[in-house]
Amino acid sequence: TTVEKHGFRHFMIKEIYEQPNVIRTCLEAYINPTWNEQNTDLNPINLGLFDLLDDIDHVQILACGTSWHASLIGKYLIEQLANIPTVVQYASEFRYAPSPITTNTLTIGVTQSGETADTIAALETEKQRRLALPREYRPRLLGITNRPESTLSYMVDQIINTQAGIEIGVAATKSFIAQLMGFYLLALDLAYRRQTLSLEQIYRIVEGLHHLPRQIETILEKQEKHIEDLAHEFNDTQDFIFVGRGINFPIALEGALKLKEISYIHAEGYPAGEMKHGPIALLDSKVPVVAIALPGKVYDKVLSNAQEAKARDARLIGVVAMNDLEATHIFNDLLSVPEVDELLSPIIAVIPLQLLAYHIAARRGLDVDQPRNLAKSVTVE
Ligand code: G6P
Repeated sequence: TTVEKHGFRHFMIKEIYEQPNVIRTCLEAYINPTWNEQNTDLNPINLGLFDLLDDIDHVQILACGTSWHASLIGKYLIEQLANIPTVVQYASEFRYAPSPITTNTLTIGVTQSGETADTIAALETEKQRRLALPREYRPRLLGITNRPESTLSYMVDQIINTQAGIEIGVAATKSFIAQLMGFYLLALDLAYRRQTLSLEQIYRIVEGLHHLPRQIETILEKQEKHIEDLAHEFNDTQDFIFVGRGINFPIALEGALKLKEISYIHAEGYPAGEMKHGPIALLDSKVPVVAIALPGKVYDKVLSNAQEAKARDARLIGVVAMNDLEATHIFNDLLSVPEVDELLSPIIAVIPLQLLAYHIAARRGLDVDQPRNLAKSVTVE
């Protein structure tokens, strides 16, 4: 089947617009439709992972690129919701320096294509070194992928099929959202099994997930034109800094990666609290700073980090909640999004950053879907 642009100028923007339906598809596939708070004996999450998730002491996640960013959010969710210590490693690093072996470890390979050479090799390394060991050390491999027919799928015990549909744009967008959904569902499945969250808490999060598609549509409807106009103001910009904290630190990394991949502008993502240890030296009126400043426990901290950047004349762009009056006084430009629980905010925060990267690159007349030097899936080392 050929995938077409259906009136969109590039595949990337078409795929950005597909994201609400990607979330709907995941929810339909993996939330038990008959579940409610009173139904205590039914696991609300239906990933079909059975005993793969029993008695886990550790989780390790291996990935590259955008999938590595999704994995960092996955770590946050698995640790905070299910209380299991989790490490995330670049597959390309892990291959040559695997961490010491731990007991009852779930190893998760995250790869949209299921073909990235480094990720496959890292998982193979892990599998081989555990095979002959006593039971508690045996490999337990889970794949999170958009390709159930891929190399990854055949080498792991089970997969979560993220069902985002084929992605053509080299810069990952909808496959990232789908991986995040995979991690929300996995963390909730673990939390239910281990009773680290109450049923009411699980119910609230599941309900919040169901609101996300509409909320993303609101951003697309209300903000795209504004972001397109804003993009015009960065014709001569050569550097960007993205900052976030907590669950949105990986979104700062992803916002920076999207921009550099398709616009060739130098961009760095940083945890906002680390700015003072280096990047603040770069700041002046020529370096815009994009801060993710959404309601939650790190909101005040991000605002004060943003103010420090402003004091160095940086142009400040804030990803903020609609109706956040305080933010209007601090930021030069606002990327407003619906207010959601902090736990779900990465899925909302990344949307305006995808649009910003897209419009800056499209405005520069660049080949958004096929950026120079990059490949959709890197099957060589
Ligand atoms: C390439 C792509 C990236 C992607 C990375 C990992 O570098 O350009 O967009 O994030 O590979 O791909 P994977 O298929 O393993 O998720």
